[in-house]
Amino acid sequence: MRDLRLFSAPPRDASSAQVRTRVSRLLEPHALALCAAAVLSLGIVAATVAPARAARGPATPLRTVEITITAAPARLTILPGLATDVYAYDGRVPGPTIELREGDSVIVHFRNELPEASTIHWHGIHLPFVADGSPFHPVAPGGTHDYVFTLQPGSAGTYWYHPHPHPVTTHQVVKGLFGALIVRAPDDPLSDIPERVLVLSDNRFTSGGAIDFPASGSLQATMDAENGREGDVMLVNGQVMPVLPIRAGEVQRWRIINASAARVYRLAIPGHRLLHVGDDGGLFEDPVEVDEIVLANAERVELLVRGTGAPGSRALLQSLPYDRYIPQTRPADWNRTRDLAVLEYSTEPPRTAPALPARLREIPALDPTTARETRVVAMSQGMINGRHMDMHRVDLQVKLGATEIWQIENLVGMDHPFHLHGFQFQVLERDGVPEPFRSWKDVVNVPKHQTVRLIVRFDDFPGKWMFHCHILDHEDQGMMGVLEVTP
Ligand code: C2O
Ligand code: CU
Ligand code: CU
Repeated sequence: MRDLRLFSAPPRDASSAQVRTRVSRLLEPHALALCAAAVLSLGIVAATVAPARAARGPATPLRTVEITITAAPARLTILPGLATDVYAYDGRVPGPTIELREGDSVIVHFRNELPEASTIHWHGIHLPFVADGSPFHPVAPGGTHDYVFTLQPGSAGTYWYHPHPHPVTTHQVVKGLFGALIVRAPDDPLSDIPERVLVLSDNRFTSGGAIDFPASGSLQATMDAENGREGDVMLVNGQVMPVLPIRAGEVQRWRIINASAARVYRLAIPGHRLLHVGDDGGLFEDPVEVDEIVLANAERVELLVRGTGAPGSRALLQSLPYDRYIPQTRPADWNRTRDLAVLEYSTEPPRTAPALPARLREIPALDPTTARETRVVAMSQGMINGRHMDMHRVDLQVKLGATEIWQIENLVGMDHPFHLHGFQFQVLERDGVPEPFRSWKDVVNVPKHQTVRLIVRFDDFPGKWMFHCHILDHEDQGMMGVLEVTP
């Protein structure tokens, strides 16, 4: 188990020694200007005494980090020469990339300057119920809310943030509200490797550049309701076909986030084998060599991209066809390969590739024999366990501290990516096949008519937590339930 209690008390000495310092950037010196949207300025309230920490890596002083984020309408150029009215965090799409460290105490001051209620949900983060930004805590237009949480040891990984007001999450995310959140470990074995964050989204636009929402009752509206909204314009960090520079021989660490409402990516860089080193909750134990990776909605991966191409050459980051649809509403062009970005080699001579660690970290296994309960969660079109979400109903109750096995069954002929708030899990098996290696996840795609078994420990934080399909239209239709963790 990760030791999730270590930092649950407020940092000692926090009151005596607080001197507020402002730092303009928190980029580690090696970072590749992250290619993502600008990194957020953070207010660091002085580091406090380092706690006794578990035997992992050098102690890093604890910090309290204060961040202010505003959601507001904005007008941006997304397509060349056209202005698009969006909703944006701090005026950008995607919102600023937030970089934090394990052990940080975080205070996010959220200002909602949208004409509608919203929230910021910290997707994948293990935090108190009131900080989850779920539909239980909407922030009114003109209102503010402080999200206060501490990043747990062992939680380093790639996360993201997005609004979660029921039932209008699709609309707000599609309008531009999403951003990356990186949590760093003090003992990251890949910390010397230059890094990029790639936030994937897709959208549809009118010829004038406006985000194109279908008229209600139109065929497109029906298709969107069924499949989830997909667009024909692929965006990486809010840009069409960005150029990603690389040098022959170089290795880059890419953190990729699927922020699309419904598009599932099957990522590949033809001519390159990829080293898959992590997913939702951070690094694997060992790298896995692959040719392609399926990235369902809200999932994240960490990849090592090795510059095996020749100086001056180019390669494409692509999304290969992936059939997640029922035949009746499968889009006519579903089997098109989509180009996402260009990998462009400099003309410099190849550099020597760095040595890569074979072992990345230990991930303790959650033990199925300690599970108190096995629950079945059945997903059908728009419903979970045969019901639409009702905020006033509790669908599942769990005792604080319990370990449980959840069997997620997809009863229908379309994939549904299952997500649980607040608690990361380990996948035990997919359709009867034992998961080949351990990882921490908070989203797992459940392909048509398949079953996934996962194990989860509810080690902290009583309250009400959502579980849902992360195709946003499905979630808004009520393909979501409420889990109550009780002391
Ligand atoms: Cu990423 Cu309930 O959401
Ligand atoms: Cu979530
Ligand atoms: Cu779904």
